[in-house]
Amino acid sequence: MTILVTGGTGFIGSHTCVQLLEAGYDLVVFDDFSNSKPGVIDKIVDITGRGFKFYHADMCDTAAMDRIFSENKIDCVIHFAGYKAVGESVEKPLMYYRNNITGTLILLDAMSRYDVKKIIFSSSATVYGVPKKVPITEDEPLSVTNPYGRTKLMIEDILRDLYVSDNTWSIILLRYFNPVGGHPSGLLCEDPNGIPNNLMPRILDTVFGKQDKLHIFGNDYPTVDGTGVRDYIHVQDLAAGHVKAIDRIMNTIGIEAINLGTGRGYSVLELVRTFEAVNKVTIPVEFSPRRPGDVAECFADTKKAYEMLGWKAELGIAEMCRDSYNARLKLMQESENNESN
Ligand code: WQD
Repeated sequence: MTILVTGGTGFIGSHTCVQLLEAGYDLVVFDDFSNSKPGVIDKIVDITGRGFKFYHADMCDTAAMDRIFSENKIDCVIHFAGYKAVGESVEKPLMYYRNNITGTLILLDAMSRYDVKKIIFSSSATVYGVPKKVPITEDEPLSVTNPYGRTKLMIEDILRDLYVSDNTWSIILLRYFNPVGGHPSGLLCEDPNGIPNNLMPRILDTVFGKQDKLHIFGNDYPTVDGTGVRDYIHVQDLAAGHVKAIDRIMNTIGIEAINLGTGRGYSVLELVRTFEAVNKVTIPVEFSPRRPGDVAECFADTKKAYEMLGWKAELGIAEMCRDSYNARLKLMQESENNESN
């Protein structure tokens, strides 16, 4: 069975490619390297000992999308490709709408023309906006507060309308909470191009000297210690959730939204302290004003994922901190070796 993975050299995409190859699936992968590096391809092969077809392509390139589907017999698509920085999306909304929305429409058009009607979409807890209650269930009202989140919600709506128009499609919307961690080999990790927005890359930048302290955005939230609470999930668990979703999508039709989280929230300070204890490092912090658009608490209700996919997160916050640190350490050593050669 052949799966097309869009954005397959990205953080979550690359970890999912590894587990799909290990599960015996054949892969076709494309990426435009806007937020990843070509070297990830070899790392996926090194980890799994298996190769796959790769296209360096922009999903807005209609001819490239057509070529991918005409040259390969695709059974299912996992759609990761898309810009994902909240702050950048506020500054450059047209870039986000063109890439994420137009690109997805071009992908879906190619799928329709080649009769490929199974898609797993990389959605996000951001579609819940400011949740009315936590833990968040999938029937929570949807609302978004930034262009990045709006592209995720728009694509969910496009897929819901597509299913209404043709109920032979099989569609799973996976709503990720806060992905962190790296592959146990240390070969894969979150390695964004440009300046990171998310907490874990900022913690790692502080520990590895790229910034002198961690700014904690707000310590006056109504939470355990005043700092923001999030549902951090190990990227390895997230990848495993996609393998389970493939099992389901190949045997069902319909459309379902499913949370991929641990069901446990941790505050920024709890994560920082755990990271320090696990990796025996010190993280200088400074409390700063709240970041616009942030919510106090956001963590998942995970019942539907277990009922529908037979999946639940296995790795805890200590493993997330350990694997994040080890993967970044390996990446730093690799880049130092490359510079000295
Ligand atoms: C987490 C907590 C911050 C940085 C976003 C997207 C979501 C998904 C994950 C893509 C918050 C605090 C952060 C820092 C801090 N993205 N923080 N100092 O905002 O929950 O979710 O990333 O799939 O769709 O919305 O993640 O890591 O930015 O923030 O104090 O330097 O860390 O205030 O409480 P967020 P985050």
